[in-house]
Amino acid sequence: MEFKHKTPLLDQLETGPWPSFVTDIKQEAESRKKNEKNIEYQIPVDCCEDLLGVLELSYVHKRTHWKHGGIVGVFGYGGGVIGRYCDQPEMFPGVAHFHTLRVNQPAGHFYTTEYLEKLCDLWERRGSGLTNMHGSTGDIIFLGTTTEQLEEIFYEMTHNLDQDLGGSGSNLRTPSDCMGESMCEFACYDTQALCYDLTMEYQDELHRPAFPYKFKFKFDGCPNCCVASIARADLSFIGIWRDDIRIDQEAVKAYVGGELVPNAGAHAGRDWGKFDIQKEVIDLCPTKCMRWDGEKLEINNPECTRCMHCINVMPRALRIGNDRGVCLLAGAKAPILHGAQMSTLIVPFMKVEEPYDEIKELIEKLWDWWMEEGLNRERLGELMKRQGFQKLLEVTGLKPIPQMIQEPRSNPYIFWKEEEVPGGFKRDIKEFRKYHQR
Ligand code: HEM
Ligand code: HEM
Ligand code: SF4
Ligand code: SF4
Repeated sequence: MEFKHKTPLLDQLETGPWPSFVTDIKQEAESRKKNEKNIEYQIPVDCCEDLLGVLELSYVHKRTHWKHGGIVGVFGYGGGVIGRYCDQPEMFPGVAHFHTLRVNQPAGHFYTTEYLEKLCDLWERRGSGLTNMHGSTGDIIFLGTTTEQLEEIFYEMTHNLDQDLGGSGSNLRTPSDCMGESMCEFACYDTQALCYDLTMEYQDELHRPAFPYKFKFKFDGCPNCCVASIARADLSFIGIWRDDIRIDQEAVKAYVGGELVPNAGAHAGRDWGKFDIQKEVIDLCPTKCMRWDGEKLEINNPECTRCMHCINVMPRALRIGNDRGVCLLAGAKAPILHGAQMSTLIVPFMKVEEPYDEIKELIEKLWDWWMEEGLNRERLGELMKRQGFQKLLEVTGLKPIPQMIQEPRSNPYIFWKEEEVPGGFKRDIKEFRKYHQR
């Protein structure tokens, strides 16, 4: 089909081996032009064509033609809409405003086809029709609409689809989770239940920015960390077990004998040779706590860091323990004021039980501290560095424990105060000299 703008540079992108976003945009541009379903488009019909046009121009100029930010939103909410304006509105009027909406995804990304269809119908009529399923935030992303449509979309979404916007700006970001117990045998707690409960509990924090900066909860059912909570969340929830890895010795032998394929066949595309339990499991255990004598597999569980490697390789033989819960880590972030960092462990194990009071108490103590002391655009992880882990322990009332130390001598943080030591620090120098020479 012939479009408004020639796009030779974008067209090249369609020739690669991968699915192309250019092809996708062209498909939507064509569908809007034909309008076979007689949709009453509420924003310019040719917005997708202008989107291709402005992108082509950016490739020619090697610079973006989107202005950064802009304050737009819906009444009563301080987040959920990210303003986008084009700096070439005369050339590309269809994308003069092209705001993005974050739509709070259902926990674990489960929805019915009917629900998806309704979302898409709404978005074709009142937006560009282009979506991103899902953004790296986890949200369903609606790409491109005009300012006038925002309230209309919000009204229809909340009233007809029972669907809310997600977070953006200095608020609680849309909590996101892995599919957890619904489909995954490794899940140590119900990620979806906890994600949903905290989303509902903290609606105010989600929609009304009152924080120094963004704050993210992410829920992983196990240390495989499918939503990468340890690298991305200010508060990471990672499923864990306290007791022993369950071993089925017969199944271990079946892996060794080749009757069962390792990694559930995930690496079957190439011939890696015969499965070698010593090389592929025992020697790769990060804490060297496993032993295989040709007959029996043994695990020294107190030394196991729950890295998941052995379980991932031999899921039929090894299973997570039965005494399950969650461990909490705080402070991950991408570089903003300071460099990127991973979360730091603050609670090695907690039972996950409704109504999650213990978890909520901890969250609120962290927020009180951060909202009081955090600088503008300072993430929790940066405050932890600036004021020290000791301060975090003080405000949360958590006890210092060995699991909080990454390695001896690199992150010391426990300093006793005089009032914490029976008898204090004062000493009688005369009494001291009775026993010690100068
Ligand atoms: C209750 C008694 C003791 C306490 C509370 C104590 C406490 C400490 C502390 C806090 C450190 C610093 C550790 C570090 O920075 O990594 C240290 C280091 C050291 N202590 Fe003690 N200490 C005690 C008894 C002793 C005794 C009796 C000896 C020797 C006979 C000793 C020999 C050392 C040595 C050699 C180091 C340096 C170790 C190293 O850096 O590798 N300590 N001690
Ligand atoms: C020929 C005998 C010895 C040799 C060659 C030797 C060598 C070393 C070396 C290379 C280090 C590491 C230093 C560093 O990396 O900072 C060290 C540390 C240490 N050595 Fe020795 N050492 C000897 C005897 C001893 C004896 C007899 C003692 C105690 C009675 C001792 C106590 C220590 C201690 C406590 C440290 C830790 C110091 C620190 O890290 O602050 N060494 N030694
Ligand atoms: S994080 Fe663990 S429990 Fe969640 S989907 Fe991934 S492997 Fe399964
Ligand atoms: S989970 Fe990781 S640390 Fe634990 S026994 Fe298996 S390989 Fe070792």
